[in-house]
Amino acid sequence: MHNTFIATTFDWDHRTPVRWQRLANKVLRKLKIPMMLTPPQPYLTSVEVRMNLFHLLDQTIAFGIPGDVVELGCNEGDSTIVMRMMLDEMAPEKELHAYDSFEGLPEISGDDQQDGVYAKGNMAVPPDLLTAKFKKLGLKLPVIHKGWFEDTVPKQLPGKISFALIDGDLYSSTMAVLPHVYERLSPGGIGMIAVYVDDEVFPRPGLQGYYKSPGVKRAVDEFFADKPEKVNLLYSCENSNAYFRKL
Ligand SMILES: C[S@@+](CC[C@H](N)C(=O)[O-])C[C@H]1O[C@@H](n2cnc3c(N)ncnc32)[C@H](O)[C@@H]1O
Repeated sequence: MHNTFIATTFDWDHRTPVRWQRLANKVLRKLKIPMMLTPPQPYLTSVEVRMNLFHLLDQTIAFGIPGDVVELGCNEGDSTIVMRMMLDEMAPEKELHAYDSFEGLPEISGDDQQDGVYAKGNMAVPPDLLTAKFKKLGLKLPVIHKGWFEDTVPKQLPGKISFALIDGDLYSSTMAVLPHVYERLSPGGIGMIAVYVDDEVFPRPGLQGYYKSPGVKRAVDEFFADKPEKVNLLYSCENSNAYFRKL
């Protein structure tokens, strides 16, 4: 499957300067000012995040890993759309499940308070936005599980999972899903974790706090401390992700 749809379905090919920026860049070059203008980063993501998602999900399909595909934290559905388009073409028998409160983040409590990077209600979106986006593209809707992970995930995950995108941004939200997803992941199945930042492996002095959620790394590292799987960092430009493959 071509993965160019990632840039054409959405306006994610954002680092190509538009006309006025190209002109401004010429002036900057002439003045020997070492900077270049590009369009701003799109909401919540980067093309690299979607590329990582594409290739990891593709691997689980190519290796015939049994189970359905789940997304914990789907927001307005852009990553869900990428997965839907891939499954339609390569594995239509797999069900796609999307989980979100659609009220944004829960109360910031305990382990997350110290980070101070998010607040309750951040990223709230009406579920209609996801359904409208799917409709516009003529795509089949995922199975939508509206509610807090703590309530939906333990009871509503499919029995067998081949691929999971874990994108809950907080320590508490990551911990609420990781044990349940891990338990149901088939051997060879992949869990991709959004906002996993490891400053020791890849220091990012200029990275905005918004994309940094130390709680996610704490939760993941804590969970995998007694597991045989390795958590691998993924380069994702302005963002940072990681993944593990279930043994
Ligand atoms: C960064 S957004 C997801 C972005 C999306 N995966 C994408 O790539 O476009 C994180 C989402 O997780 C949801 N979320 C975080 N913690 C949650 C919890 N405990 N229960 C339900 N939803 C939660 C938020 O509502 C938010 O929409």
